[in-house]
Amino acid sequence: MTGRIPQSFIDELLNRVDIVEVIDARVPLKKSGREYSACCPFHNEKTPSFTVSQNKQFYHCFGCGAHGSAIGFLMDYEHFEFPEAIEELARGVGLDVPREADSGDHQAPPQRDSHYAVLERADRFYRSQLRDAGSAVEYLKKRGLSGEIAGRYGLGYAPAGWDALTRELGGDRHTQEIAVELGLLVRRDDGGLYDRFRDRVMFPIRDRRGRTIGFGGRVMGDEKPKYMNSPESPVFHKGQELYGLFEARKASQKLERLLVVEGYMDVVALAQFGISNAVATLGTATTPEHLERLFRTVPEVVFCFDGDAAGRRAGWRALEHALPVLKDGREARFLFLPDGEDPDSLIRRIGYQAFHEQTVDCVPLSQFFYATLSQQVDTRSVDGRAHLVELARPLLQKLPDSVFRDLMLNELGKHSGLPVAQLTARVFGNAPAAAAPAPKRRPVSSGRSPVRVAIRLLLEQPELSGCVQDLNAFRDLDMPGVDLLTELVEMLREHPHLHTAGILEHWRGRPEERHLAQLAVMPLEVSDGLQHEFEGAIQRLAEQRAAQRMQQLLSLDHGTGLTDPEKQELKQLFAARHPML
Ligand code: UTP
Ligand code: MN
Repeated sequence: MTGRIPQSFIDELLNRVDIVEVIDARVPLKKSGREYSACCPFHNEKTPSFTVSQNKQFYHCFGCGAHGSAIGFLMDYEHFEFPEAIEELARGVGLDVPREADSGDHQAPPQRDSHYAVLERADRFYRSQLRDAGSAVEYLKKRGLSGEIAGRYGLGYAPAGWDALTRELGGDRHTQEIAVELGLLVRRDDGGLYDRFRDRVMFPIRDRRGRTIGFGGRVMGDEKPKYMNSPESPVFHKGQELYGLFEARKASQKLERLLVVEGYMDVVALAQFGISNAVATLGTATTPEHLERLFRTVPEVVFCFDGDAAGRRAGWRALEHALPVLKDGREARFLFLPDGEDPDSLIRRIGYQAFHEQTVDCVPLSQFFYATLSQQVDTRSVDGRAHLVELARPLLQKLPDSVFRDLMLNELGKHSGLPVAQLTARVFGNAPAAAAPAPKRRPVSSGRSPVRVAIRLLLEQPELSGCVQDLNAFRDLDMPGVDLLTELVEMLREHPHLHTAGILEHWRGRPEERHLAQLAVMPLEVSDGLQHEFEGAIQRLAEQRAAQRMQQLLSLDHGTGLTDPEKQELKQLFAARHPML
């Protein structure tokens, strides 16, 4: 393995490259005002909401929320790994990438990489084991999968026995703890470890960037459970992830439609037959987060469910979650499969062409919607039709104001026999067209916590860090974000010449990165007087810290009593707060 790339090099690199050039070479940009814009390459849209700031060296899409530095752009757009993105940028500006010498075992890799690193090791191990496992290869062949497809989805094999992965991961305690947290290893009561996945075909689950974040493992016989899945972990959230999404995006630069199916095998088998845009939820029902993610990626989603009662219930749940995100231009449809079939078995039986035609020509959401509701009432009677309106009302209210909503209301008119104007009033009250306005993005300073204001301003103008006279005046303030602010100020004092994107790179892979990125694109209403505003925020923090400390000392005083230095401190706090006393 090569050593780590020093952070100082990353700082320098980001100061040399121009994100506008990097992106423009791949997604042609138009200048608009102080920034550049284009239609977002990460989701489907007709009007540009993807902006690139030369000043901040940062891109951001107001539509789908994608954001990052030149490095992040290459990772997302070109599917590069982090070091590859660095290499590519460095090549462009004629720099060589230095590597830190490997400092041996005594220095553990930084905490933030470990989950991904352990998953990657497990992934590589399972894949290497597949090559030597005749039975697993046989099984996959029997299910009609080629080596090419197995490779594309990174299929592997977890050996039988109890300690294959345990031994592979070695004796490092830290690594073992992480593997247990990831559910790859299990700790016995006596402290020993064993492999959780044994004698199973392994399906790695990857995130948007292609990093493995968990696994599903299938037995090759009839044992139970058929599938075992990684548990929730700091890097794996089942309700958000979609199996196969990374592979689908990789297979096509411009995805138009996604097919949502139920199983790992369905995704892989469809790909085998040339349908490479299928994704699966991970043994859970479709969540609102899934819907968000799906429609951020493509304008059209087709749900495949069993044709039986359970399948229709699952379909209805997906429909309910889809309603709030169905803006104009987005479409959801439903493909109910014949009894006893899943997509895997169906495509084997009828082949690519017939299957494809079914996905193009299946039930639109509106049809499924009214068919399902109509079954619950007797539309021949007045009461029944009134009931239908009542059933539809809360659901239609979830739809964003759109042409589609108008059409749905029209449809309700047909089914209920009521004139649309009357329905509009019934369903939406008296102000039909005025659905809740989109929340306006507020400027930073209005009513925001001083921590957010301070961080926002530092991201705009990093030199402001020089205005902080005394970090200790608020360092211990108990308020969300104070630690981040303190760290940011300290970092900027050491690296005063970073721009926004360079700052964010210091937080790569940490949870705070997202907060910083969100703040970085929040509109600033003032363009001068930043220093004044910044100092005001810092001042407020110091005051709040003083007040908090005073409270603390006072309650100590009531309880265990104060030491002399504490009494002294309290006196000073009082004096500062009430200079007249
Ligand atoms: P299915 O039973 O339909 O499996 O479960 P499948 O994908 O068609 O697999 P094959 O064809 O039998 O190999 C659908 C999904 O439900 C979850 C898995 O995510 C699976 O892909 N599941 C199923 C489990 O998590 N555990 C189980 O024991 C069974
Ligand atoms: Mn199946």
